[in-house]
Amino acid sequence: MEFPRIVVNAKVYTEATGPGARALLDACAAAGRTGLAPPLTELGNMARFGRSAPLFAQHVDALPAGVGTGFITAAMAKAAGASGTLLNHAEHKLKPVDLKASLAAAKAAGLWTLLCADSLAEARRLAKLAPTAIAVEPPELIGGKVSVTSADPAIVSDAVAAVRDLDSDILVLCGAGVKTGRDVRAARKLGAHGVLLASGVVKAKDPAAALRDLASGLL
Ligand code: G3P
Repeated sequence: MEFPRIVVNAKVYTEATGPGARALLDACAAAGRTGLAPPLTELGNMARFGRSAPLFAQHVDALPAGVGTGFITAAMAKAAGASGTLLNHAEHKLKPVDLKASLAAAKAAGLWTLLCADSLAEARRLAKLAPTAIAVEPPELIGGKVSVTSADPAIVSDAVAAVRDLDSDILVLCGAGVKTGRDVRAARKLGAHGVLLASGVVKAKDPAAALRDLASGLL
């Protein structure tokens, strides 16, 4: 399975729960090359829905199975159908020691690791951890109307260059404010593998149409 070019992080939006979760999965599967990080409570339901798209846990913890309350282990995320995990999102920032531990647990479980960086400096630091991918997302643009590719194209191209210099195997995505196929095309022109986004799909009137437009930017 190839690492997706578009990853939809459904966060804890209510639109992505219950029937919305199934609709979102269908839309991601239909768009192609698109992964979905559903609300954690929906992850295990996805297999029952029939359509498939690569799934990501929004987070995993490093503890082993057994004693531990209120955590999600990497092995459990994998067993629930995840192919990868996000880690260190701006809304779920981890201390370096915890990030390293979660990353190691995710790798041991055979999950792709998509680490979020809120700056160029953080992207550089994260590249030393050899994740599968890094998504650079300026926090001030998250949930906004302007795509990072327009508001701060340099952070995307600089992150691509910096990460490539350190480890050319790591894929670089960008996110924050991404909404359209034009934004995806711009991300690709800036050298990014793809995009990580949330509200542009989850809060769209027609998420499937939004995803079709986004995917058109990959052509
Ligand atoms: O993880 C993606 C995210 O933080 C970007 O959010 O709503 O700006 O696409 P949004």
